[in-house]
Amino acid sequence: MTTIEHRVATGVSFALTEEQKGLRDLARDFAQKEIRLKAAEYDERSTHPADIIEKAHEVGLMNPHVPEEYGGAGLSSFDGMLIGEELSWGCAGIAVSIVANTLGATPVMLAGSDDQKRKWLVPLIESPILCSFGLTEPNAGSDVSGIETTAVRVGDDYVINGSKMFITNAGHAAWIVVFASTDKSQGHKGLSAFVVPTDLEGVTVEKHLDKMGQRATDTSAIAFQDVRVPAENLLGEEGEGFKIAMRTLDHTRPGTAAGAVGVARAAYEYAVEYSRTRVQFGQPIAMNQGVNFLIADMAAEIEAARLLTWQAAWLFDQGRRATLHSSFAKRFASDTAMKVTTDAVQIFGGYGYMKEYPVEKLMRDAKLFQIYEGTSQIQRLVIAREIFFPRD
Ligand code: CAA
Repeated sequence: MTTIEHRVATGVSFALTEEQKGLRDLARDFAQKEIRLKAAEYDERSTHPADIIEKAHEVGLMNPHVPEEYGGAGLSSFDGMLIGEELSWGCAGIAVSIVANTLGATPVMLAGSDDQKRKWLVPLIESPILCSFGLTEPNAGSDVSGIETTAVRVGDDYVINGSKMFITNAGHAAWIVVFASTDKSQGHKGLSAFVVPTDLEGVTVEKHLDKMGQRATDTSAIAFQDVRVPAENLLGEEGEGFKIAMRTLDHTRPGTAAGAVGVARAAYEYAVEYSRTRVQFGQPIAMNQGVNFLIADMAAEIEAARLLTWQAAWLFDQGRRATLHSSFAKRFASDTAMKVTTDAVQIFGGYGYMKEYPVEKLMRDAKLFQIYEGTSQIQRLVIAREIFFPRD
């Protein structure tokens, strides 16, 4: 299995290069003009933001890590963090619709042959098509080795049967990486990964799920009934699926953490502004220590979450395994987003609980960061294992 070749960042510096500032400003401007103003409407209707995805693709904010040889910009993992935070600051639901291609495409980037990369990655650059990551099942969420979907070799094909749950963009994806068991007796060592075009016979998007937050993202259940997939769609070798999934999540969890930082930052900014202007007992509520200490903690924790996120991305850009630091970033940033958005609602008081004020949505959106791409408890499990049973 190869590693994703990100552009190598040099040294350690907290100062962004001019190129990185330009990228961040592009994403910030896009979030301000194209995302934030429409966030409440997409949240209310829970509809897929196809028009915004198309624009994001047009300006180059999608699929940032696809290598140049496959038509992409080949941006670093670090650069991806800058984009992710800004888009999510605009709206986490719309942002996830845009950045989820990275989750779908990473198994191909990590384990695909040159032919497979050419076949599946190049079209992502050419047009705003979507791809998904099909790991979770109704009975296998945290426990990946419990996957029940099967893939049986028949001639030059594999026949796939099973169903996947909570799959981002599944209702709109052109293809999905499906993790399935090719040998039940081998447990996690019997899992394999396949690229499955969604227009194959037997693929059915079962339902669009009605979520509490991040409602602009399509999250669907998808079923596979006797789906014949050419054997050439197998990524890596049979039995490598579990490790492909884990290594994918190592790469993408910092991106999720960056999204959580974006949501936390949005809530923090609203809370600062509100506490400056809301007058109670004859003075702005920001004058009360009970309020400004909450804001002081928000500021410090957001900064810490961002630095952990940057560090994990930087490790990948050095070509190093970053399982531990990815989980540090994902765990800390998700929990920070939950805490900061909850405190922002508290600072807004009764208004904060109302839908016409923005922090209520941010609190709902924040919750999902503690659940998808591995719950906060799974991140602690990964961290504890890395401490007590470190792998090379
Ligand atoms: N990199 C490479 N190899 C790894 C690895 C990693 N990060 N983590 C584990 N492995 C290897 C182990 O070394 C071990 O190798 P051997 O078989 O050679 O010994 C093997 O994989 C099995 O590892 P474990 O014994 O640790 O496996 P486990 O069954 O105990 O599970 C787990 C570990 C961390 C709990 C894992 O199941 C996990 O990450 N669960 C969470 C799943 C998750 O994040 N799901 C989110 C789905 S995606 C999503 O939410 C996005 C969306 O679209 C909504």
